[in-house]
Amino acid sequence: MTTLVSYSVTLYRLFCSVTGAGGYTQRAAADDATISQRVVNVWFNTNVAPGMPWQFAPVQRSVNVHLGQDTLVFFTAENTSDHPIVGHATFNVAPSEVGLYFKKIQCFCFTEERLEPHQKVEMPVDFFVDPRMAKDPDLTDTNNITLSYTFFESKNPAQAQNLSRFDKQPASPAAGREIFATTCSGCHSLDRNKVGPMLEGVVGRRAGAVPGYPYSAALARADVVWNADSLDKWLANPQAFIAGAQMPFHLPDALRRRDVIAYLATLKQLPAAHAAQRTASHPG
Ligand code: HEC
Repeated sequence: MTTLVSYSVTLYRLFCSVTGAGGYTQRAAADDATISQRVVNVWFNTNVAPGMPWQFAPVQRSVNVHLGQDTLVFFTAENTSDHPIVGHATFNVAPSEVGLYFKKIQCFCFTEERLEPHQKVEMPVDFFVDPRMAKDPDLTDTNNITLSYTFFESKNPAQAQNLSRFDKQPASPAAGREIFATTCSGCHSLDRNKVGPMLEGVVGRRAGAVPGYPYSAALARADVVWNADSLDKWLANPQAFIAGAQMPFHLPDALRRRDVIAYLATLKQLPAAHAAQRTASHPG
């Protein structure tokens, strides 16, 4: 019996629309200019949450890439059950110091995806390792990088469109904390820079102001202070709010945005000078 692989149009569209076709081309051109001689071996590792009836595997075990080289790899996912399942993935880079240099990763992990019973799809991931990694003294001996993905089953996929009836309820920082843990923490942590800048104290902070984080020029220059209103616009559509910004993720659901912002507002606000000291005392 032959297994039919149906290529998911949704996933490809998602893949291409993360930054928009224009942004993608520009970015690829910029990368070509800075491809470095240094080669690293990138390994792929996949997991599914316990009990989730999906098979999820990398098509290639590893690839050799030059720093700065735009690379496309594929993963397959198959729903082995008799019912549709919506999943979302989180990713992780090891060693963790390298996470910073995977900053422009684009992939299927940014939104929820539905697989029909026994449907199998092949999913692209486009990435490059920032050539600035070559200048990081902590990473001179790092030749192997592991990119791991874990798929989780979405808890209430059917209700995703339908939450407006809860609109009268107050925002929930507890729900926001959960959203942060499942959808933001793949890229952001509270107290150190990862793929995205650290977010502790983000409410009240100027955009693009965390020392040591390699912001896009657009975000570094933006004249924005993060508050409930600006965060809501940013999370709804980062590129529409700040043209040229490079957060490859958005949160379409207004209530989820409201909750995650309520959570961010509960986090301790560090004065900029304090944040700078902290970063300086932990180089790399
Ligand atoms: C796939 C990775 C990724 C995910 C997921 C992600 N972000 Fe980001 N985020 C980034 C990157 C990269 C930047 C920096 C963008 C730039 O430099 O233009 C960023 C920037 C930000 C900023 C601006 C911070 C500053 O210092 O100016 C905020 C706020 C933010 N993200 C919030 C969130 C929240 C809240 C979530 C979850 C709902 C989230 N992000 C999910 C990658 C991500």
